[in-house]
Amino acid sequence: MTAFDAATEARVSDLVLGDRRHGLPADVTDARFWDEMYDSREQIFSGNPNPVLVTEISGLTPGRALDVGCGEGADAVWLAGQGWQVTGVDIARTAIDRAARRDSRVTWVHADWTVTPPHAEAFDLVTVHFVPIPRRHARNLIDAVAPGGTLLVTGHDLSDLPAGHIPGFDPADYVEPAALAEQLGDGWTVLVDEKRRRAPDATPHTHDRVLRATRDPI
Ligand SMILES: C[S@@+](CC[C@H](N)C(=O)[O-])C[C@H]1O[C@@H](n2cnc3c(N)ncnc32)[C@H](O)[C@@H]1O
Repeated sequence: MTAFDAATEARVSDLVLGDRRHGLPADVTDARFWDEMYDSREQIFSGNPNPVLVTEISGLTPGRALDVGCGEGADAVWLAGQGWQVTGVDIARTAIDRAARRDSRVTWVHADWTVTPPHAEAFDLVTVHFVPIPRRHARNLIDAVAPGGTLLVTGHDLSDLPAGHIPGFDPADYVEPAALAEQLGDGWTVLVDEKRRRAPDATPHTHDRVLRATRDPI
């Protein structure tokens, strides 16, 4: 993730650890969870693109790109700068508003991608960075990639986290990049499926999981 500073990490940890005032667990599928995170600060993320995105996508021929869970927009803006025609979608209104103030080249969409899934085969690149992927909706991300296109998914390596780090969050309900690779099926080529060390930041995470795959051309 485009790094937190220490103060923001503390705030986000508060949110992730649940609403302590009411003893409730966090719900990372609930827009209110993300709205509260963004509303807690004028800026949450660094504003720089994710290093995995830059490493994996630099040099690809630009086309139509979808950044799922685009947050404040750093990845989408970077892609637009590389010549991609970008759509960024996020469930958090504050995040989308911030992103829209930042760059008018990108089409910014305030939506829950699990409720309004992307059109099938509509994008030459689908990027998903540090966004929870509920198991029953994962196929929609795969299907959104056009023939010849690329799927790039980065997530935290959950084995970094101490047990019970996120009360109420069951990793079994979500698809990690490696598990998504298993769902691709025929007609896909996996180029990267690995655990990758991330630059130290204020988060407890030391490694990412990265999946990069291409859909065979027709
Ligand atoms: C941890 S942040 C990562 C933001 C950005 N991708 C990055 O790497 O900096 C996760 C983002 O996913 C968004 N998100 C979570 N679930 C979503 C959903 N179902 N539909 C759209 N956006 C979602 C959140 O609002 C949040 O902005």
